[in-house]
Amino acid sequence: MARNDGTWGINTRLAHDGNDPSDYFGFVNPPVVHASTVLYPNAATMAGRSQKYTYGTRGTPTTDALATAIDSLEGSAGTIVVPSGLAAVTVPLLAFAAAGDHVLIVDSVYHPTRHFADTMLKRLGVEVEYYDPHVGAGISKLIKANTSIVFTESPASNTFEVQDIPAIAKAAKAAGAVVMMDNTWATPLYLKPLDYGVDVSIHAATKYPGGHSDVLLGTVSANETCWERLHEGFVTLGCCAGPDDVYQVLRGLRTMGVRLEHHRKSALEIATWLEAQPGVARVLHPALPSHPDHALWRRDFSGSSGVFSIVLAGGGQKGQHAFLDALTIFGLGYSWGGYESLAVPVFLGDRVVAKAPEEGPVIRLQIGLEDVADLKADLLRGLAAASA
Ligand SMILES: Cc1ncc(COP(=O)(O)O)c(C=O)c1O
Repeated sequence: MARNDGTWGINTRLAHDGNDPSDYFGFVNPPVVHASTVLYPNAATMAGRSQKYTYGTRGTPTTDALATAIDSLEGSAGTIVVPSGLAAVTVPLLAFAAAGDHVLIVDSVYHPTRHFADTMLKRLGVEVEYYDPHVGAGISKLIKANTSIVFTESPASNTFEVQDIPAIAKAAKAAGAVVMMDNTWATPLYLKPLDYGVDVSIHAATKYPGGHSDVLLGTVSANETCWERLHEGFVTLGCCAGPDDVYQVLRGLRTMGVRLEHHRKSALEIATWLEAQPGVARVLHPALPSHPDHALWRRDFSGSSGVFSIVLAGGGQKGQHAFLDALTIFGLGYSWGGYESLAVPVFLGDRVVAKAPEEGPVIRLQIGLEDVADLKADLLRGLAAASA
């Protein structure tokens, strides 16, 4: 069967990368290998661990199929598959941080990443400092002799500031720090972090790769320099994912390109329309020309996904809750990247550097695969309730 020779388009790669059907009697999908024990043919092979698979925690044909497909998308030397997006954040941080290190994390980071840094990392003797998402090359002023990691996430969780990743990566590299990026929003279809100087690219595969709100998974992909240490940390922690979940994400990946294109178009149409609606002070979506970081987004990203926020024109928490309670199609639920639309109230009280919008309360929207006209009608119900 034809294999990717480097010329394939993105949807061809999503459809075929990973496993080779000829390895499994022609079945197009790989088997779901449930495994702890792997048998060895003799003592010498066992002593030398000289066979491809050695133990369930260290990889199976199922995890290899997904990791290979992700490597192809990310351009990485290797990918680990872990049980959640949050584990995809914590495992590399644990693999690379040591007591006495200084770690720089963007202030607009996904809240559980901050919680992990403020609790476990600090307890392990790591100094944690948050930086402004607009710091750019100015990050060099924050880098110390013991800075070992710069952790980025762009666009920002909930407020969607875009970071100058190449400038940050250049300054971090010059100081010998490892650059990690949570790239969940863009997926490797709209940004390939390793092409911009990032060393370790992180995904909550729970979102667009899974795509159906029924599975939790994370992937972490590293360049040649960082792969060995990342893999060593992964094996040491024993943080492997269950085979059914891995299979579900590989299955989701096959259709991710067409789903994402639909999310992209619908979200952009709705975001543009929301800008003109009474009761909306601002729409925080980096693909809108009105977004302060739009030029940076255009320079580095090749598309936008389906998650963005709106800032209501006043109304406080009462207006925010009225908006949310009036919605009938949008569900009130965390996570995103699934087929269904969701809305959440945004809390920004944890930030220490990045400023929260001041015009009114913030609501994050995940635009699903429903018809845009129905979603607009639902949002009008929310806006009417908020202003009532
Ligand atoms: C940017 C980002 N990273 C990581 C995660 C964690 O993913 P999971 O829910 O699979 O733990 C999330 C979840 O919302 C997220 O939004």
